[in-house]
Amino acid sequence: MTTTLITGANKGLGFETARRLVAAGHTVWIGSRDAERGRRAADRLGAHFVPLDVTDDASVAAAVRTVEAGGGLDVLVNNAGVEGRTADNGVVGAAEVTAEEMRTLFETNVFGPVRVTHAFLPLLRRSAAPVVVNVSSGLASLTRLADPADVAYGYPGVAYPASKAALNMVTVQYAKAFPDLRINAVEPGFTATDLNGRTGTQTVEEGAEIIVRMAQVGPDGPTGAYLDSAGPLPW
Ligand SMILES: NC(=O)c1ccc[n+]([C@@H]2O[C@H](COP(=O)([O-])OP(=O)(O)OC[C@H]3O[C@@H](n4cnc5c(N)ncnc54)[C@H](OP(=O)(O)O)[C@@H]3O)[C@@H](O)[C@H]2O)c1
Repeated sequence: MTTTLITGANKGLGFETARRLVAAGHTVWIGSRDAERGRRAADRLGAHFVPLDVTDDASVAAAVRTVEAGGGLDVLVNNAGVEGRTADNGVVGAAEVTAEEMRTLFETNVFGPVRVTHAFLPLLRRSAAPVVVNVSSGLASLTRLADPADVAYGYPGVAYPASKAALNMVTVQYAKAFPDLRINAVEPGFTATDLNGRTGTQTVEEGAEIIVRMAQVGPDGPTGAYLDSAGPLPW
């Protein structure tokens, strides 16, 4: 039996990933910083709920104790993320972005996965086939954002792409340090969720596909890769 923890799984891509992995036979822990939303999501899916705020050391440490008492962990999906849009759903551009806003985004999108992975590493290393999926973004690609011919070129935000590019580098470095682990960064594609005010052009079913696939990767599968549903992406 494979046990999987998904951070930020009370809605959006995390919830859909949880739904699919429960259907695939995984024991799934829904990580949610809000107890009511997390419990409701877990009850709907036949999953377990664990309180988990990825920006809070004490919350993450308590989640480790809960998951350990439940029997351990095989798969960690670092899904919780924020884009930091304005109140009217605008992207914060280069002229407006402040160090403080950038720090807030990095706290969730970069330090969050590092905090959670570091804390769960002892449990993962006890698994026969440990897997980590870091939910990145196509906007993490330096190659794509620097190419005027690419559709991602016009994205004006600074903090979000920078945070996901940093997460990609964290993924590469972890993959080399922990060869027994399969750890990959994935790009779900532009998906209609609360993150973007539901402006995304894909459904959550489509977006979750690569997350679900890489959560189920076997010991011979890729590690240190950056992928969308069609294959490897340029860094
Ligand atoms: N949607 C897209 O087009 C797209 C494209 C590429 C990548 N992604 C990535 O996909 C992931 C999931 O995003 P989504 O589109 O599904 O957005 P979403 O519907 O807004 O879901 C984000 C989830 O993250 C949780 N979260 C935020 N901060 C957290 C924290 N400090 N601790 C724990 N949970 C926290 C949210 O919890 P609350 O409900 O409590 O806020 C929510 O459950 C993100 O990493 C995002 O960057 C999305």
